[in-house]
Amino acid sequence: MTVATQQLRLRRPDDWHVHLRDGAVLQSVVAHTARQFARAIVMPNLTPPVTTTAQAIAYQQRIMAALATHTDAPDFTALMTLYLTDKTPADEIAKAKESGVVHAVKLYPAGATTNSDAGVTDLLKHCGAVLEAMQKHNLPLLVHGEVTDPTIDVFDREAVFIDRVMLPLRKQFPNLKVVFEHITTKEGADYVATAEGPVAATITPQHLLYNRNAIFSGGLRPHWYCLPILKRELHREALLAAATSDSNRFFLGTDSAPHVKGQKEKDCGCAGCYSAYHAMELYAAAFESVGKLDRLEAFASLNGPAFYDLPVNDSFITLERTETMIPDVLDMANDQIVPLAAGESLNWRFVE
Ligand code: DOR
Ligand code: ZN
Repeated sequence: MTVATQQLRLRRPDDWHVHLRDGAVLQSVVAHTARQFARAIVMPNLTPPVTTTAQAIAYQQRIMAALATHTDAPDFTALMTLYLTDKTPADEIAKAKESGVVHAVKLYPAGATTNSDAGVTDLLKHCGAVLEAMQKHNLPLLVHGEVTDPTIDVFDREAVFIDRVMLPLRKQFPNLKVVFEHITTKEGADYVATAEGPVAATITPQHLLYNRNAIFSGGLRPHWYCLPILKRELHREALLAAATSDSNRFFLGTDSAPHVKGQKEKDCGCAGCYSAYHAMELYAAAFESVGKLDRLEAFASLNGPAFYDLPVNDSFITLERTETMIPDVLDMANDQIVPLAAGESLNWRFVE
């Protein structure tokens, strides 16, 4: 990567955690993701969830068809995932691996977040044979790392997950590749940095740029509500240090999770921040805030492919130092969506 004063040129990045949804929303959001990223790991929490290889292949075809309706659609590869349930049969894993389409399996603890009702109630009790097969076939487990125990404070659910689930899981399956998705705490970052074996983490732009004050600044701000929820400043600082460190275990995963405006601004609003439209501008702002733009390429473009055993992309992108206003709303599926950092100005603009 070259860091000239006004331009940043880096190998084309990938998004290792994104929600593209389906239908009309998919049609809108896929172009945003494909404009900036060459590949993306696509989350399977549709209704109904993507639990089989056949469903993942069909979903991938819908994604490519949606992208093809855009003029000048860029080259883009959707890397698919399966949604793990208590009943996922172990023989699905060999099929998934063989397909070349499915690159990981996602663990949603039942009830943890959007469309997680069909998720796992007790991982080691119900999914031992599947985890064994994943370890054998080298198929990573992507973890929504929060306990669902209602007696645990919502701000502590990630840290408690490490003790209650992550440690026993990795003790029993030490060679299973695990991505601790969208980490939000110092405990999460420290665990990933120091754990033995094949462990990595994705980090979102919102968790690098904001702490939990953003949710309550001058009133209740639903567009900063996502899960896992934003934490205190010391955690944001730890995440920023991890993302910009020399460790190759941390990589880009936006967790861009579109919900139309009305679904966020209501009495029981949905969790999720929309960042696909301006993801690299957001990450550049975060890295620049600690003088670490020189670490952005490793985080965005190199560490993820290394973990997933995929080649790095052979094309490049350019970010330009230009003041960029983030729109208050974007049109989306005959509706509107409020992007992360709406109305704020950022110092960088993705130009190609
Ligand atoms: O904020 C979130 N939104 N967190 C998740 O885990 C799921 C996501 C969604 O699908 O909306
Ligand atoms: Zn997600």
